[in-house]
Amino acid sequence: MTTIDTSVQHAIEDAAKLLRRSNHAVALSGAGLSAESGIPTYRGTGGIWTRFGEPTIDGWELFASDPKAWWEEAIAHGASEFSVAIERSEPNAGHIAMAQLEEMGRLAHTITQNIDNLHRRAGSRRLTEIHGNRYLVRCMNCGARERLETVSLDRLPPLCCECGGILKNDIVMFGEPIPDDALRESYKQAGASDLFLSVGTSAVVYPAADFPLMAKRRGSPLIEVNPEETALSEFADVIVRAPAGVALPAIVELLAQEL
Ligand code: APR
Repeated sequence: MTTIDTSVQHAIEDAAKLLRRSNHAVALSGAGLSAESGIPTYRGTGGIWTRFGEPTIDGWELFASDPKAWWEEAIAHGASEFSVAIERSEPNAGHIAMAQLEEMGRLAHTITQNIDNLHRRAGSRRLTEIHGNRYLVRCMNCGARERLETVSLDRLPPLCCECGGILKNDIVMFGEPIPDDALRESYKQAGASDLFLSVGTSAVVYPAADFPLMAKRRGSPLIEVNPEETALSEFADVIVRAPAGVALPAIVELLAQEL
């Protein structure tokens, strides 16, 4: 049983009150939500980039200039610490709580920056994976997505079975445009939201970090769930300074009491 300190308990109660009153709550989730599944964050305490520095961000240039060489490098490179952690991960109580909020009709949509597929495995369906999904490939011509495991890598680069276009892994690289469908849906949801929930994100990468601010500018309240201060903290109406795996189940428990 996790003991929750009084100030966090009050913030959880305030967050539940706002969610209770909302008709179209939208969440933005980040790597911190998956931290309790054993997947390292990028930034913040213990983040992989905090520890080892940011990687070179030329993947998109390499892919765009020579897709075949990019695929050969990706296949030869093998699994990183990050990939191994994702392969071993399971949805945690925070993912499950967000799927429950959706099920209860308290969460209209989740925009996730995470590529780990854990929201889907936890049961979330109203979901936009704005930075892609590591288990998918995406056609650079028509945008069609296929499961990576179904694509033959005998010939590189692999080609789209719909249009013959070149396939790339679905993960959005730095410098790569966010896929149109994901961007359109994210702006639509942010524009329709009457409450925004920021969970486990440092909110420093755009356009994702703009969605909570867009909602805020339209007068929607903002809830932040994060054990550390972020770029959004000064704009938040309610700050739950706790891990998502503690805060979100406690919010669900309060809301479930009225059902
Ligand atoms: N619960 C909630 N938040 C947590 C937890 C936890 N248990 N543990 C850590 N955090 C918070 C950290 O305090 C930090 O603010 O999660 C946040 C993680 O921030 P980042 O590592 O920057 O992850 P994110 O915001 O998702 O990064 C956005 O940047 O690196 C790119 O494309 C990548 O999608 C990623 C994007």
